[in-house]
Amino acid sequence: MLDPYRVREDFPILKRTVNGYPLVYFDNAATSQKPISVIEAMREFYEKSNANIHRAVHTLSQEATELYEEAHKEVASFINAESYEEVVFVKNATEAINLVAYSWGLKLNPEDEVVVTLMEHHSNLVPWESLSRIKKFKVKYAGVNYDGTLNYESLEQLVTGKTRFVCVTHASNVTGVINDIEKISKLAHEHGALLLVDGAQSVPHMPVDVKKLDVDFLAFSGHKMLGPTGIGVLYAKRELLEGGEPFLFGGDMIKEVTYTHNEGRLRISWNELPWKFEAGTPNVCGAVGLMEAVRYLKRLGMENVHEHERNLTIYALDKLREVSTLKTYGPGREIDRCGIIPFNMDGLDSHDLALLLDQFGIMVRSGFHCAQPLHQHLGLKSSVRASFYVYNTREEVDRFVEVLREVSEGLKRQR
Ligand SMILES: Cc1ncc(COP(=O)(O)O)c(C=O)c1O
Repeated sequence: MLDPYRVREDFPILKRTVNGYPLVYFDNAATSQKPISVIEAMREFYEKSNANIHRAVHTLSQEATELYEEAHKEVASFINAESYEEVVFVKNATEAINLVAYSWGLKLNPEDEVVVTLMEHHSNLVPWESLSRIKKFKVKYAGVNYDGTLNYESLEQLVTGKTRFVCVTHASNVTGVINDIEKISKLAHEHGALLLVDGAQSVPHMPVDVKKLDVDFLAFSGHKMLGPTGIGVLYAKRELLEGGEPFLFGGDMIKEVTYTHNEGRLRISWNELPWKFEAGTPNVCGAVGLMEAVRYLKRLGMENVHEHERNLTIYALDKLREVSTLKTYGPGREIDRCGIIPFNMDGLDSHDLALLLDQFGIMVRSGFHCAQPLHQHLGLKSSVRASFYVYNTREEVDRFVEVLREVSEGLKRQR
């Protein structure tokens, strides 16, 4: 079992106060806090081993290269990839999805189709919609039920022999709904389509095994899983990476560039995997931080992480019912979900409620959470979102509900 009080000791930021109150950080779906081991690993890198990678023969470059490559291996084993060659480091989940769109999606033709869902984050909608305007293929949108779960019948109707990509989130960043990726993978593959999974809200919070799920592409961000900002991952099956065209071009992604006098042009061969997809100087220190974050999560155990968050979510959902003017969205407590609860309070704009909570040291997100079509589909103007992680406790949930109750009572008195 995971002990959040023990975990909290590793996170220096959790010791601070905000507006005179102990910090309650419930904005983990936006980004997570960082344990001291991650902060120290990055500091140590800059103090002892900083150099560019894959370029020089000197000791520092060798050390930096080893760390950078080790980070790929650590991430590969975390998601059960076949090898580090299937792990491409990028800036974040957004860049990983754009990499798929521009390296593979650019080959699509007007008769092709891409199927997405209405529960996607903008980063898994806008690249496909934008590319479709250039390449003239069709994007189709699978529906979502009133409780935020995916409408599988709608998805099944949309996926046909014309579908080239099915792009779906593993877990919703608004409702915490977890999609059945094994089922969607079978559906996509039966129709000859490739499956891209947005793992930004699943990889940090539950065990994710790319072989078991049989995904073709998986995108996620380091900063949501205890790692630093500026480093993310695209996992892709080896044969896809081997056959794929890079999206960014420049140093380190090539093996040879020679000028042919008779043709008057360059002859270029790509580097080995995964470097073929990592043009230019990468975020070496970010990779070191991500490696340490993955080690931290491995020590906690991803089953334990998921169970802790699920228990805390059920506890919070039950307690939130005590606040009569508050409405939560998403599936009931009986459906497995990630630690995310969206809600609204009668008569209060979501940003105003988030600002009131901030006055009591409680950090939540408000607005659309980069998922405006989902809000529109569920008939919501916006929502407040509380999202939990490994260091959140029942005591924090109690304080959160207590403050919400006070706000609600105060509003009632004013009316
Ligand atoms: C489901 C989902 N996908 C993608 C993203 C984009 O992540 P990033 O901004 O790190 O690229 C987010 C971020 O909130 C997310 O929640």
